[in-house]
Amino acid sequence: MFPIVSNDLIAPNLYRMVIRAPRIARSRQPGQFVIVHADQEAERIPLTIADADIDRGTVTLFVQAVGYSTCRLTALPAGTSLRDLAGPLGRPTEIKPWGRVACIGGGVGTAVLYPLAKALAEAGNQVISVIGGRNADLIILADELAEFCVEVLVATEDGSRGRQGFVTHVLQGLIADPRSIPQAVYAVGPVPMMKAVTEMTRPHQIRTIVSLNPIMIDGTGMCGGCRVVVGGELKFACVDGPEFDGHLVDFDLLADRLSTYRTEECKMIRKLPE
Ligand code: NAD
Ligand code: FES
Repeated sequence: MFPIVSNDLIAPNLYRMVIRAPRIARSRQPGQFVIVHADQEAERIPLTIADADIDRGTVTLFVQAVGYSTCRLTALPAGTSLRDLAGPLGRPTEIKPWGRVACIGGGVGTAVLYPLAKALAEAGNQVISVIGGRNADLIILADELAEFCVEVLVATEDGSRGRQGFVTHVLQGLIADPRSIPQAVYAVGPVPMMKAVTEMTRPHQIRTIVSLNPIMIDGTGMCGGCRVVVGGELKFACVDGPEFDGHLVDFDLLADRLSTYRTEECKMIRKLPE
């Protein structure tokens, strides 16, 4: 069993959960994820390890309560335990001394971006984070990113914080100026956002790494549920990724596969207690 040390609501429907898992905390690397199994009947949920504290033996996970299983998971209070936490899984992030790196986080994708940005800064890169959300309440981790980024730029769709618009509007400005053009871009967020980022960096041949979030079941390359097409080849995001060269990803296929169980998910959500 894996005790829940804390579980806090940090933005609408978004929870920061700290779980005691000393072995995972010791061995995880940036970009890796765990598969959470809250109880015997629950689905298995893949979640990026946002942070780890080796001394306390804990890992930090951000969970957006959007579906049946994530709502059940986030309803568990501190002091209870998760049945199982498998990991660390997936390949660690490609960390190189790029120079100037733009880290683009869309909505809750910012939680996945955080450990990557931190690792890139620790490797000596100048990291500019660009984070966006529908409104100011949905902007997360801006202060935490500011601790190691040279700049944190915010975009909100309603203009309630930072620049009005999408994160891609801010990225466009960075690319247009030779003093701020990045040597590499890391993007995590909704599929349309990652697709838009890659279309923007492609003409400039800026290396662009995206973190994909297909449906996952076992997380070990056995079920095929997480298959994606990258460079015309079939890949399993759980063992070959979750990060890939964004210029090679078939985003339309990923979006299509992510919508496969939407009707069933809606039926399950209606069964949740009020
Ligand atoms: P959202 O739809 O509110 O978008 C957040 C921000 O992303 C927007 O404010 C905008 O700045 C940017 N964005 C969205 N669509 C865009 C587009 N077409 N072009 C340019 N920029 C765009 O996001 P949310 O509701 O917080 O996040 C939920 C989504 O993120 C889900 O689809 C979820 O699956 C995905 N997600 C992905 C990962 C991952 O690893 N890639 C991790 C967590 C969540
Ligand atoms: Fe089953 Fe990746 S989750 S193969």
